[in-house]
Amino acid sequence: MNILITGATSGIGQQLALDYVAQGDQVIVCGRNQQVLDELQARSPLLHSLALDVTNLKQCIKAFGQLPFVPDVWIFNAGVCEYIDDGELDSGLIKRVMDVNFFGVVHCLEAMIPYQAQGQQVVVVSSIAGELALPRAEAYGASKAAISYLTQALALDWERRGIALSLVMPGFVATPLTQKNTFSMPMMISVNEASQQIRQQLREGKRFIYLPKRFTTLLRLVAMLPYRWQQKLVQRWILS
Ligand SMILES: NC(=O)c1ccc[n+]([C@@H]2O[C@H](COP(=O)([O-])OP(=O)(O)OC[C@H]3O[C@@H](n4cnc5c(N)ncnc54)[C@H](OP(=O)(O)O)[C@@H]3O)[C@@H](O)[C@H]2O)c1
Repeated sequence: MNILITGATSGIGQQLALDYVAQGDQVIVCGRNQQVLDELQARSPLLHSLALDVTNLKQCIKAFGQLPFVPDVWIFNAGVCEYIDDGELDSGLIKRVMDVNFFGVVHCLEAMIPYQAQGQQVVVVSSIAGELALPRAEAYGASKAAISYLTQALALDWERRGIALSLVMPGFVATPLTQKNTFSMPMMISVNEASQQIRQQLREGKRFIYLPKRFTTLLRLVAMLPYRWQQKLVQRWILS
């Protein structure tokens, strides 16, 4: 299989890239960090690097025009997390997060259109944080809720073109992104576990991939409660 992964210089994306290569797939690894891209490319002839800032549509279009092959699987995983403290809204922060987590994916989706072919799989890495309002996650959660919605709406049309879209909804995964968190992260899993679960469920053709199962199921159940109950539970768990 031929696979492209954005955000492959670190964390979940890098682990997915290494695991796909270990099973004999060809992977194009994307990111901004040229040094890590060079190191990855040097590790295997199956790894190809592509420097790319997803916030820049022109760069995405140019980069996808230079692909060494057309991917069967496009994994749009690049993302950032910044928190809002004590409800002090900061539009600059929110724009930064939306630029990568929402518009970054939109740019990649738009830039891949000329290379679409029946049977391809598009995978968007969102977050369970997009399904339940959590404190300090005004920017991050909103960006993930937005990209989850866009992906599901797009799937209604693209699936008729023979393109399968899947959403990945992780809970906590141990990566440089979560390393910065100072709060407790229940049921956190390793990148190896995350990669294994994502790859297995993609192989099975799953459209929604929740991981780890117990933690994300718990949050989804809370999200189904009346709003006042959700608020009370989240305040008691996280803010008290
Ligand atoms: N870790 C978790 O617990 C968790 C939970 C839920 C969802 N997720 C989602 O999973 C995805 C991967 O997260 P991670 O935990 O693996 O994070 P990570 O280790 O911090 O990796 C983030 C990746 O995104 C890339 N990136 C950031 N800004 C970019 C930009 N402007 N253009 C291109 N690439 C950019 C980074 O590469 P460069 O710096 O080289 O550009 C890096 O490779 C994210 O979408 C995140 O929101 C993670």
